[in-house]
Amino acid sequence: MRGKFITLEGIDGAGKSTHLAWLATHFRTRNLPICQTREPGGTPLGEKLRALLLDKDQPMHLETETLLMFAARREHIQQVIEPALARGDWVLCDRFTDATFAYQGGGRGVACEKLEILEQWVQDGLQPDLTIIFDLPPAIGRARAGRIKIPDRFEAENEAFYERVRAGYLGRAKNDVKRIRLIDASRSIAEVQADLLVLVDRLCQ
Ligand code: TMP
Repeated sequence: MRGKFITLEGIDGAGKSTHLAWLATHFRTRNLPICQTREPGGTPLGEKLRALLLDKDQPMHLETETLLMFAARREHIQQVIEPALARGDWVLCDRFTDATFAYQGGGRGVACEKLEILEQWVQDGLQPDLTIIFDLPPAIGRARAGRIKIPDRFEAENEAFYERVRAGYLGRAKNDVKRIRLIDASRSIAEVQADLLVLVDRLCQ
């Protein structure tokens, strides 16, 4: 049986990576085969592109940035995501195309129509079965992210950028209420994980 494709999203500092690690452990303890991966990245070429994309000393045109995100994604789908789904794995992916709509579309201002063309071209109909957006105000996200490490090219952006990214995510969620679920990530880890469990368990049924 084909596996399930779950993507986790949110602005930097939303706690997505912590929740993804927790979710992976949850699936493993239930003996479900999982493939844990991330974007940009997930393949040797994708990880090289990720390093370029996050390097804050590497300026690039907003459309170059968009195309590199989709180039990494093309490789990722073909080498990792599709084979994992075909062998029945649960694919847990830290970010996917909703991030491009939020960051490059909302944050940078790349036209939505261009992103839709690339989405269709690169994904050829592939969509996650479930996307969870960890939503929280950018001021809280920035304070959390800033405590962890030196900011990369995206984390170095200002609060107005992150307000647009958040609005981009909320717009995506509104347009696809079946696939995309929002979780209020400003609450405690335990409260967030309780919501998370309800959402993923629904997929298991
Ligand atoms: P991460 O730190 O959550 O792994 O994500 C890396 C950064 O890349 C994050 O700041 C969001 C950004 N990003 C985009 O701008 N567009 C995309 O399509 C993806 C997947 C990530």
